[in-house]
Amino acid sequence: MNFTPATPLGYLRTFGPRADPATDLTWGLIVISLAVVIIVTVLVVAGVLVRRSRGSERPPVAESRHEARWIWVGLAPTCVVLLLSLVWTVEVLARINDPPRRPALTVEITGHQWWWEARYDFAQPNGTLVTANEIHIPVGTPVLVKLTSADVIHSFWIPALTGKTDTIPGRTNLTWIEASRPGDYRGQCTEYCGAQHAGMAAFVIAEPPAAFAAWRAAQSAPARAPSGPAALAGQAVFAAYCAACHTVRGTGAEGILGPDLTHIASRQSLASGLIPNTPGSLAGWIGDPQALKPGARMPAVGLSGPQLGAVVAYLEGLK
Ligand code: CUA
Repeated sequence: MNFTPATPLGYLRTFGPRADPATDLTWGLIVISLAVVIIVTVLVVAGVLVRRSRGSERPPVAESRHEARWIWVGLAPTCVVLLLSLVWTVEVLARINDPPRRPALTVEITGHQWWWEARYDFAQPNGTLVTANEIHIPVGTPVLVKLTSADVIHSFWIPALTGKTDTIPGRTNLTWIEASRPGDYRGQCTEYCGAQHAGMAAFVIAEPPAAFAAWRAAQSAPARAPSGPAALAGQAVFAAYCAACHTVRGTGAEGILGPDLTHIASRQSLASGLIPNTPGSLAGWIGDPQALKPGARMPAVGLSGPQLGAVVAYLEGLK
């Protein structure tokens, strides 16, 4: 069962203990605000109509002791409502600040212009695991998220799971997420960070624990060896043109400027959610990144047609 939200970035429906109390608060404050507007409007209109029907010989409210007391009558419920809203807000902030249980998993997320690096904790039995833009988590478990940035300030936001937390160079900010049901939860960088700020989507993919364990085991493994002559040729092209920026674990490619591509074929999208991960869009992306994502740090490296075909065949094999 994969949940796909009808409004991908909608924040009025949430799916986890980090976000749900804030959503209840949002709806509650909306209802209170609407009630206040309706009550005040009705009283003002009623006051005008009553005054008009009685004629204008009566003095204004402020000059009448008797009627000035209505100011106090109005002030009292206002204070009570504002105070209750404040208490509710502070209570919700305190409740979602810490996860209900100790997080069993830590993901270190680094914002880059313009993509997300996700590194799973070294202390785990399967060792280090680095991926990009698609952050898998097990369902029903709080996950600690450590946030930093490699360049400028970005902000991590998965509206159905958690509010916004900035990623700041040289600093680690903490947040946590927990999904109460499986699904692909889309997120977005929400701090203006340059030309492709809008092209900086993130996805949290929440899976049942067994599916997550399988994903983790597969992602922890080194890259698959190329199968077939095209993929083999593609590995050589990759080593010559791409390895300075990209890592493919288990090969000589150890660049750290761009996303780790060890298991790129297992991802759903490319270029931080911009295009689906298909052989055609992969070829289009490598052939001319600037056409698809102007300003992106990835340059066109001037591959020939056969070289491009080979490198796509190689990457398609990196499941
Ligand atoms: Cu990264 Cu906006």
